[in-house]
Formats: sequence, C-alpha cells, structure tokens
Amino acid sequence: MSIEEIKKAAEYLRPRIIPGTEVAIVLGTGLGGLVGEIETVDSIPYEDIPCFPVSTVEGHKGRLIIGKIGGVSVIAMQGRFHYYEGYTMQQVTMPARVMKLLGIKTLIVSNAAGGLNPGFKVGDVMVITDHINMFGTNPLIGKNLDEFGPRFPDMSETYSKRLTELALKIGKEENLDLRTGVYVGTSGPTFETPAEYKMFRLLGGDAVGMSTVPEVIIAHHAGIEVFGVSIITDSGVPGEIVEVSHEEVQKVAAAAEPRMTKVISRLVEEIGKGTSPKS
Ligand code: HPA
Repeated sequence: MSIEEIKKAAEYLRPRIIPGTEVAIVLGTGLGGLVGEIETVDSIPYEDIPCFPVSTVEGHKGRLIIGKIGGVSVIAMQGRFHYYEGYTMQQVTMPARVMKLLGIKTLIVSNAAGGLNPGFKVGDVMVITDHINMFGTNPLIGKNLDEFGPRFPDMSETYSKRLTELALKIGKEENLDLRTGVYVGTSGPTFETPAEYKMFRLLGGDAVGMSTVPEVIIAHHAGIEVFGVSIITDSGVPGEIVEVSHEEVQKVAAAAEPRMTKVISRLVEEIGKGTSPKS
C-alpha cells in the first residue's frame, strides 16, 4: 500500500472521527461484544473507505465504529484483515497506518488464541506481554516509510509495560483472574498439529493465533503505544488437545468476551484520565 493510499483513507475518515481521538481498538474473532460498550456516533463499513481492504471471514463484520467509552473517544475496528485470507502484509496492516495519520496514540488489540501454557484454562483472558513472529514474513519488508518510523525498529518493549500493569491492576480490582504471556503469531489458516503446539511452547509461547503480530509491528514502528489481550479458546497442551473448529473458537470467545470487555473499557477510561501516553 502506498503512502498515497494510506493518506486517502485517512483523509476520508478524518472528518468523521471525533476530533482528538487517541485510542483505537481492534476487535478479534467473537469479540465484537465490546461494541455494546461504545456510545456509537457513527459506523463506517470498510467498503466505504477508499483503498481499504474488505474483510471476508465469518465472525468479522468489517466496519469502523466511531464513538466513546466512558467519555473517551475511540475508533474500533469490528473485524480485521488476516494474512490467511490472501491479503498482503501491507493490506493487513494498512489500518494501523491510517490510524497513525488520524492521530491515534494507543492501539488496543484483541484476539482468540490457542493455549500453550499448561497453567491456562479454556476461557482464560491473557494480557499479551510480548510476541513471537512466526508468520515467516514481516510487514516492514520493503522500502521503509521513514515518515512512520525507522528502518530497523527496536522491539524491546513492543507491548506497553505501563498499560500491562494498569490492566493487571484493573483485573485484580474486578476479580478477572487475568493471565499474562507471550503470543505466537502464525499465518494459519490451519490450526496447529500437536507437534506444532509443542514446538511453539518450547519456543517460549503461552498462546498461539493467526493475527495481531503484523498490526502490532506496524503500530509500534510508528510509535503507537500497544496493549493486547488474547482469549484462550482451545488448548494446545499435550493431553488436552481436542478437535478445534472456528465455530468453537467463536463460541468460547463470545463467552469470555464480557471479562475482556471489562478490562478494555476500564483501561480506556484510565487512559482518558491520564495525559497522552506518548507524543
Ligand atoms: N491456533 C491458532 N489460532 C487460533 C487457535 C489455535 O489453537 N485458537 C484460536 N485461534
């Protein structure tokens, strides 16, 4: 995606977002329920946005919600673009760059993921502390767009420690029993074989899924503060692995969604109270 295309999408959206919006949220599979917490002022189907890719997978509605959570202005992506759908890495990550141009300072991402950590249960909510990119590619390959960030971006704190700590504090206050861990991102669309789950655990992963890593790399490259959360929808732990389907993933994600929604909505309120995290 060229800078012109990214600018075109941003120019279309700028007059439609709430001026001063600094928080964007990406809602993953089965996690659209957070939309119920948003005092919606506008809803824009992806197909209306110039140069924006269009989402196809079931469980992803494909629209941008403009509104407020607890008085804090947000943009929420209901539905994201996945690499396994056949989009290029540039298409998958284009929304993150559009958000940068719109003035977003904090990106909150959510996803459904398979559990690798034997201490996790199906239905757990995991705050992402770090990731391992197993997509076999990187969205920053190619000419660097210097207006967004450096050629060789530092990744020593990709997921904001400040927001992680804030979320864990909220989790304690609300009795949400949050987990923390490393998210392994893979292309999909196959779920893992038992040998692959085992390998990802050996590599240091706590959860595995088919999204998030590309958008997070692009957001972090552009200096956006990132917070991520995974819902553990199935187990990849030896002895616990059962057949998994997209339907089951959606069902478990929807059941766990109120706890994730609680964390995110309170986090957004806290972010709104503070000063801008990064300028
Ligand atoms: N593997 C990969 N992606 C997933 C899984 C899984 O087990 N569960 C939900 N998304």
